[in-house]
Amino acid sequence: MADPVRIGLLGCGTVGRAFADLLDERAEAVEAATGQRPELAGVLTRGEGSFEEILERSDLIVELIGGTDVARDHVLSALRAGRPVVTANKQLLARYGEELFAAARDSGVQLRFEAAVAGAIPIVRVIQESFGVTEIGKVFGIVNGTTNFILSEMASSGAPYEEVLARAQKLGYAEADPTDDVTGADAAAKMAILARLAFHAPVTLDEVVYEGIEQVKPDDLAYAKELDLSLKLLGVAERREGGISVRVFPCFLYSGHPLAPVGGPFNAVMVEAPAITEVTMSGPGAGGIQTASAVLGDVVSILAGEAPLHEVREDLPIVTDFTSSFYLHLEVADRPGVLAKITHVLGENEVSVKSVVQRGIGDEARLVMVIHECLESRFSAAIDEIAQLDELRSAPRSIRVIEEEFV
Ligand SMILES: NC(=O)c1ccc[n+]([C@@H]2O[C@H](COP(=O)([O-])OP(=O)(O)OC[C@H]3O[C@@H](n4cnc5c(N)ncnc54)[C@H](OP(=O)(O)O)[C@@H]3O)[C@@H](O)[C@H]2O)c1
Repeated sequence: MADPVRIGLLGCGTVGRAFADLLDERAEAVEAATGQRPELAGVLTRGEGSFEEILERSDLIVELIGGTDVARDHVLSALRAGRPVVTANKQLLARYGEELFAAARDSGVQLRFEAAVAGAIPIVRVIQESFGVTEIGKVFGIVNGTTNFILSEMASSGAPYEEVLARAQKLGYAEADPTDDVTGADAAAKMAILARLAFHAPVTLDEVVYEGIEQVKPDDLAYAKELDLSLKLLGVAERREGGISVRVFPCFLYSGHPLAPVGGPFNAVMVEAPAITEVTMSGPGAGGIQTASAVLGDVVSILAGEAPLHEVREDLPIVTDFTSSFYLHLEVADRPGVLAKITHVLGENEVSVKSVVQRGIGDEARLVMVIHECLESRFSAAIDEIAQLDELRSAPRSIRVIEEEFV
C-alpha cells in the first residue's frame, strides 16, 4: 500500500473545520482518484499546534487562517521548504501573488487557490487550465455574494440599504463587520486574482479601482425596474487599447443579460474570448462546506500532479480612460424647459440620452435617464454642470449600465 499523504492544516475555523470533516469523509474517494490516501498531519490554531512541527511532518500545507501577516509567513515558509500549498486566502494572493508564485516556481511545487475566488465555482481552474492559452478579452461577474444578496433584497422588498444589511447579518450572509464586502474591497481582491490569471500580467489589489453599494437608494431600484434594469455589484477585468483595466462598481443590467437573473448570495463569472465567445459559470460564492470542497479539489489536483506555472507573459499597463453607459437620477423643479436645459448640457458634452422616465411630485419632478455609452470624463463634466443648475433640488445620482444586448 502507498504511503499516505500527510496534510498540515493551518486554521480550523469555518472553512478549516469543514475541510477537516470533508477530508475524513472523502479520504477513500481521494485515494481512488489519486492513488494516495490523505490524512491530517496536524492542525494549527491560535491555541493549538506548532507551525514548525506541523510543517516538518506534512507533505502538503492547507492555509485557512486568512489575513496577510501570519498566513504570508507560513505559506512562504512552506513553499520554500518544498511543500505544495492550497489556500483560500484572496487577500494574500491579491497582495503578494507574485512573491508566492515565484517561491512556488523556485521550489518546483504547486500553489493552488481555487477557493479564493467565487467559492464553489471552479473559475480559477477553468481560466488557468481550460483557457490557459486562450487570449481572454474580458472576465467579469458577480464575485461577492453578500452584496448580491443585499441588492436582490432591496429590489424585491423596496427596503433601504441599512435594513437589508441587518437582515443579511442575521441570516449569516454578511459579517458583523461588513466593510470589506459593501465597499467593494473583497470583490476587488478577487478581480485582481482573476485578472492576473486571465492576462498573465502582474496585477495587485492596489491597481483595482473599486466602488461599493452603500450609496444605493431604494428609489434607484424602483425606477430601474420601470426601465427593465436590475442592479449588481460587478467586477470587470478587460483588455483595452494599450493595456488592461480592472474595476468593481455597481451597475445596472438589462433583463436579457446572463448575469441579470443571478440573485441572492450567488456568484457568477463570465469569460469572453474570440475563440470561446462567452462562457458563464454560477454557483454559491461562500460558505464553509462549499469553500472546503474547492480546497479539497485543489488537494486532489496537486496529488494528481498537474502544475500551473503562473509565469508573467506580458507586462500590460493598467488603463484608466473608460467609456460607460449610465443611469442618471435627477430631482428638479417642475418647470417648463428644465428637461431641455439638461439635455442641452448633456449634448454639449457629447453625451446622448437613450431613455427618460419623468414623474411630477408636488412642485418637483424626478427625471430618470439612461445615457448611451460615452467617455466617463465627458459624463462627469456634464454632471458637474447639471449640478450647478438653479433647477436642481439635490445632487445628481448616477450608476453605470451595461447596454450590451444578449440573445
Ligand atoms: N468563510 C467563508 O465562507 C470563506 C469563503 C471563501 C474564502 N474564505 C477564506 O478562507 C480563509 C479562512 O476563513 P474562515 O471563515 O474559516 O476564518 P475563521 O473562521 O476566522 O477561522 C480562522 C482560523 O485561523 C486561526 N488563526 C487565526 N489567526 C491565527 C494565528 N495567528 N495563528 C494560527 N491560527 C490562527 C483561527 O484560530 P482560532 O480557532 O484559535 O481562532 C481559526 O481556526 C480566509 O482566508 C477566508 O478569506 C472563507
